[in-house]
Amino acid sequence: MNSTQKINILLIEDETEQRQILKSILIEQHYQVSDVGNGEQGIKLIQQQTFDIVISDWKLPGVDGVDVLNTLKQYSPLSSFILITAHGDASHAIATIRAGADDYLLKPFDKTTLLFTIKKQLYAQSVERENQTLKQQLKQRKQLVDIIGRSPLMNQLFQRIEKAAPTNATIMINGESGTGKELAARAIHQLSSRSNSAFIPVNCAAIPESLAESELFGVEKGAFTGATRNRPGVLEAANGGTIFLDEIGELPLLMQSKLLRFLQEGTINRVGSTAQQKLDVRVVSATNRNLILEIEKGNFREDLYYRLNVIPVTIPPLRNRPEDILPLIEHFIQQCCDENNILIRQLSKPAIKLLLSYHWPGNVRELKNIIERSVLLSSEEIISVEEISGLEFEKPNQSSSYLLPENGLNWEDHEKDCLLQSLAYCNNNKTQAAKLLGLNYKAFLYRLEKYSIC
Ligand SMILES: Nc1ncnc2c1ncn2[C@@H]1O[C@H](COP(=O)(O)OP(=O)(O)O)[C@@H](O)[C@H]1O
Ligand SMILES: [Mg+2]
Repeated sequence: MNSTQKINILLIEDETEQRQILKSILIEQHYQVSDVGNGEQGIKLIQQQTFDIVISDWKLPGVDGVDVLNTLKQYSPLSSFILITAHGDASHAIATIRAGADDYLLKPFDKTTLLFTIKKQLYAQSVERENQTLKQQLKQRKQLVDIIGRSPLMNQLFQRIEKAAPTNATIMINGESGTGKELAARAIHQLSSRSNSAFIPVNCAAIPESLAESELFGVEKGAFTGATRNRPGVLEAANGGTIFLDEIGELPLLMQSKLLRFLQEGTINRVGSTAQQKLDVRVVSATNRNLILEIEKGNFREDLYYRLNVIPVTIPPLRNRPEDILPLIEHFIQQCCDENNILIRQLSKPAIKLLLSYHWPGNVRELKNIIERSVLLSSEEIISVEEISGLEFEKPNQSSSYLLPENGLNWEDHEKDCLLQSLAYCNNNKTQAAKLLGLNYKAFLYRLEKYSIC
């Protein structure tokens, strides 16, 4: 039922005269009324169409009110059942309410009572519908709850995902490695109307260039030596659902133009076939690279970039959202203990402090690894700071990934900047900051003095 449609009422009453009177009262109120004189006909109608309300006499020839009620609850659980019963039969009324009727009318009843009882039911239905919508929204939020995060930055991300997910727009997720890009892509799929269809993750960096086309678009038997059978590609496998193209920046240029054609035309053909297939696939991609730079260098097609990036989603690095570290630690401890059937472990206060002050170059993935290893290796219920610091943390990116700006730099300003930034990342913890720059502690202190820092 919606507000522009008429309320649909089924009236079941074997006394013709009474039925006519009730019917005319209801029609006068602009309700849409179907009326029948016995339970059998009533049940048939209930099986064929949906009524907002069924008003039925209790004593009917043949099948009686209880059978009608049971059919209604089976076929249309949200509809209301109002029972009409003779004054002396109040015990029936109570029994029927117990059996699931929503209300009853004792004969003789007046027009006001009848209309009031109907209004009450319509109101109850609107509350129930609202309730169901809220429950649905709650369920959706719960699915996002798998992504742990309570920082304002993550809340912004959740809002963006909730808004973007139900659309069909392409989404490009940007973020450093380990920030949860795949998790976000799965959440987008879960929150879309495609959630019952496939989610196919594809790591573009892992496909050898020579196999990329058949991997993406499929291959027809005999297309090349080795193609011994027809094989669908990942795009076909994702039909009706979502494809997640991870590390999209690694896709070879030739594949980029083929992917662009698919995005423009919505069709593919398998390698070795001229038959075009229309596909309905939502494309979510992810990268930890700056694709604008790759475009400038000629490594990524600009037109494809705009096609893929209709809605950009950025996941902030963990070091920019320290509020999330503690909830993530708790989440991973719980998860790891559950999965391995071990009693719940705890971190000592100094261990927590150490983790809170770390800059997490490997982001959430690194934190997860550290927690898992410490939980599994520790023999004590409380994990000490020594056990944590004995673990190997990820090495900061090696210098080869650093690009010298084209117009050069001022070495001393640069060095001072590195020192200050490393201290800021590590909450002024000099041991950590030295590690971050790959310097031993003494060498680090020497440089701090050189620039009169601290
Ligand atoms: N916010 C988060 N809440 C819970 N787990 C997370 C979160 N972010 C990342 N993870 C976990 O960290 C690991 C790395 O996440 P992933 O989505 O593969 O990162 P990316 O694709 O950005 O490299 C996965 O095990 C993932 O489940
Ligand atoms: Mg990933």
